[in-house]
Amino acid sequence: MRRKLAAGNWKMNGLSASLVEVEKLLEYHPKPACEVLICPPATLIAQLAWRIKNKELAVGGQDCHWNASGAHTGDISAPMLVDAGASHVIIGHSERRADHGESDALVQAKCTAALAAGLTAVVCVGETEHQRDTGITLSVIGMQLAHSLPDDCTAARVVIAYEPVWAIGTGRTPTLAEIGEVHDFIRKTITTRFGAEGNGMRILYGGSVKPSNAAEIFAVSNVDGALVGGASLKASDFGAIIAALEAA
Ligand code: PGA
Repeated sequence: MRRKLAAGNWKMNGLSASLVEVEKLLEYHPKPACEVLICPPATLIAQLAWRIKNKELAVGGQDCHWNASGAHTGDISAPMLVDAGASHVIIGHSERRADHGESDALVQAKCTAALAAGLTAVVCVGETEHQRDTGITLSVIGMQLAHSLPDDCTAARVVIAYEPVWAIGTGRTPTLAEIGEVHDFIRKTITTRFGAEGNGMRILYGGSVKPSNAAEIFAVSNVDGALVGGASLKASDFGAIIAALEAA
């Protein structure tokens, strides 16, 4: 049985005052039946981790460097995330792939660094609108999986997030059949490569998940949860998404 996961990605949003939303969320969901993860900006990780100590909530980073330390001004390493209280890290989000030119090889190196530090890696893949329109979605996802995942991925330590680039922050989502097609394809691909570990890995859907569409998305085969951007910023919205996942 794969434990369902609701992950919130705050992106470059949130100041100390925003942590009140997490407190509200915990009031609403003190003992969630699924795993809940919040990835705030790096500046809030330590503060959030300290505030939620002994609570049923995990804290994650949004990126890490592929080296553990060194002369890389402005970067944050995986051991630093662990030191700040994070247990997870998002790797290869499409915004990093686009804004910072991150390649599959770089994503793979970052994933290796995250695993070496003891973090659980949430590795993102997803096609652009042009790639979907030209019918190459599955081959794009297949290539991203092949080259972004290191060989030592395990069910306990790696989560895949399927996020169509054109659905992120746009309010648009693929049809349920399209989501199912990609998730089934990802399951087949990772099971072929990693065997039982691949079968045990969670596959999250991400891209404009909100309270109004969460339940139908969670009913799709091989959807084990969601990576939520905008709707994770408000406790009421993220709480409703968690409730939909618990009920799925
Ligand atoms: P969104 O972002 O929910 O705001 O579309 C999802 C993501 O980028 O992880």
